[in-house]
Amino acid sequence: MNTLMRRAQHLHHWRTYCIKQCAAVAGNEATAAAKGKTSYEELIDSRHQQAERSIVVQVSSEKSYNELYNYCSRFGRIVTAHHYTVPHEDELHYMLLEYANANEATAAIDSSAYNAELSGHSSVSAGGSGSGVPVRSPFLWFRAAAAAGKRNQSKLSANHKPLPLTTVAGTRPLAQDHLHTLLRSAESIEQQLQLLYEHTRLNDLGVRMRFLAALQVQQAIAGMFPEARAQPFGSSVNGFGKMGCDLDLILRFDGATTAQSERQLMSRLVYHTKENLSNGRSQTQRQMECIGDLLHLFLPGVCHVRRILQARVPIIKYHHEHLDLEVDLSMSNLTGFYMSELLYMFGELDPRVRPLTFSIRRWAQSCGLTNPSPGRWISNFSLSCLVMYFLQQLRQPILPSISAMVKTAASTDIRITEDGINCTFARDMERVSFASRNTSSLSELLLQFFEFYSQFDFHNRAISLNEARALSKPDHSAMYIVNPLEQLLNVSKNVSLEECERLRIEVRNAAWILESEVENSTLTEQERNEQSWGLLNLFKHPEKAVIRPNMFFKPRMVEVSDLFEKSQLNGSTTTPPINYKNA
Ligand code: GTP
Ligand code: MG
Repeated sequence: MNTLMRRAQHLHHWRTYCIKQCAAVAGNEATAAAKGKTSYEELIDSRHQQAERSIVVQVSSEKSYNELYNYCSRFGRIVTAHHYTVPHEDELHYMLLEYANANEATAAIDSSAYNAELSGHSSVSAGGSGSGVPVRSPFLWFRAAAAAGKRNQSKLSANHKPLPLTTVAGTRPLAQDHLHTLLRSAESIEQQLQLLYEHTRLNDLGVRMRFLAALQVQQAIAGMFPEARAQPFGSSVNGFGKMGCDLDLILRFDGATTAQSERQLMSRLVYHTKENLSNGRSQTQRQMECIGDLLHLFLPGVCHVRRILQARVPIIKYHHEHLDLEVDLSMSNLTGFYMSELLYMFGELDPRVRPLTFSIRRWAQSCGLTNPSPGRWISNFSLSCLVMYFLQQLRQPILPSISAMVKTAASTDIRITEDGINCTFARDMERVSFASRNTSSLSELLLQFFEFYSQFDFHNRAISLNEARALSKPDHSAMYIVNPLEQLLNVSKNVSLEECERLRIEVRNAAWILESEVENSTLTEQERNEQSWGLLNLFKHPEKAVIRPNMFFKPRMVEVSDLFEKSQLNGSTTTPPINYKNA
């Protein structure tokens, strides 16, 4: 009984300790906030246009900036300038310059030299002595003034006062030590959650670089496919991406992610086309093979091209050495693109959604629940679905159901993929805006998330984001999350029984850890700076983090696992060993 009372006290402390900083999302304020919000398509369009106004120039060092700025200003007005480095044998330096309009960037690119000596230049074959085929792209190299001849040198003296240069150390993730020091310096778990989000999310430069990678592919094939569109999707654009995340790219020859333009509908002249193969999948595989060769043989910066054409969604993977970026290019999965739009909208609807998801993704990574390579473990995407569903099913929901978004769709929101998959839902943020009365703080939500899934009946229930409720599980998959856009499919079909059980154990551990962190709320500033507390304890490796002598099982948990039952049967009064390896 004593333990129960202590526990109740803990919970009470916990709730009062949490800062209620998100209360302002209630009522009309949410609708007002939605008014200024950018839609997904607006975001994608504006980032594409920004890429069209930009060039990336490799330089020998940051010191070249003034000279480069002077030189490039002859083509137009430079409005932003970023410097970043890419790790290599020697650090490689790049400047990303954005002009006021696309014509100016085009003029800079068109002015570039095409002689064989220079066109073979790559950061790997340093010295520019190669003899590669010249390829037009936004990726350029700033050669020494002496090599460019005397005529140019006189112009260099034209004095433009350079814009301040934004120096960003690329888009690599923050070193773990730095992040930990930062989290230790916070004043509360609430602040740790915000800091984690702000310091690990993909930055503006990262998004710019990803749209430049897309533009390079698009421009490379534009002569033959004038309607082609290379579109970033996934975590690069849905606001859930962290520094260093891969770029998911979809290449469409017909640009058909949005409705056909008026001009196309009216025209009486129609391009002749080559007949398609009868089998759509082999057609895509053949085309991807060809695109893979093109990328591999001709596109500057593209290296380590791998074709994974037998996968459910065939992809080409490659590395971009000028952007320090891994790319997954697909040509046939438009639902992934629209799914990213849904996630983007969820993230925009409430300021708590993204920081919460970031902390949960980080926790899952730290205890080995997720893994960058695909397998029988839960994917980041499925994990995000778990977070979205949790936020939908709260007594005071923070997110709407997808079916509510479908109901309010306008005729301009209709999207049907070429495979006939209906991806229609309201896309106007104002229309979807959801007046949540939920005032829980981020740290309260984090704890509630862990509590919710430690009790969730994965054995019998399927999660539906469409209905915002759990349904009977239609098959024997260990974990079932109804695919929001193809409702006969299971997003988490790959998750094995063992991995699902591991998730259940880890969410329970996390709830324990987080609740016991209330004890640390009385730490002095010096103690906070010197020891692990709050999220840092949550992110520790399980072997170190979970075994704590005074922990006890939550009385409110209805669903009792075998593990707990065993410890009860043995008459144990202390915490069962909750390291899954012991389970
Ligand atoms: P990270 O790459 O881990 O940072 O996250 P991500 O969100 O980019 O995930 P991933 O690269 O695996 O997938 C890219 C996008 O494809 C996701 O954001 C989803 O929008 C979409 N996606 C992934 N898996 C599925 C799926 O099973 N069904 C549907 N409809 N879309 C999916
Ligand atoms: Mg991705």
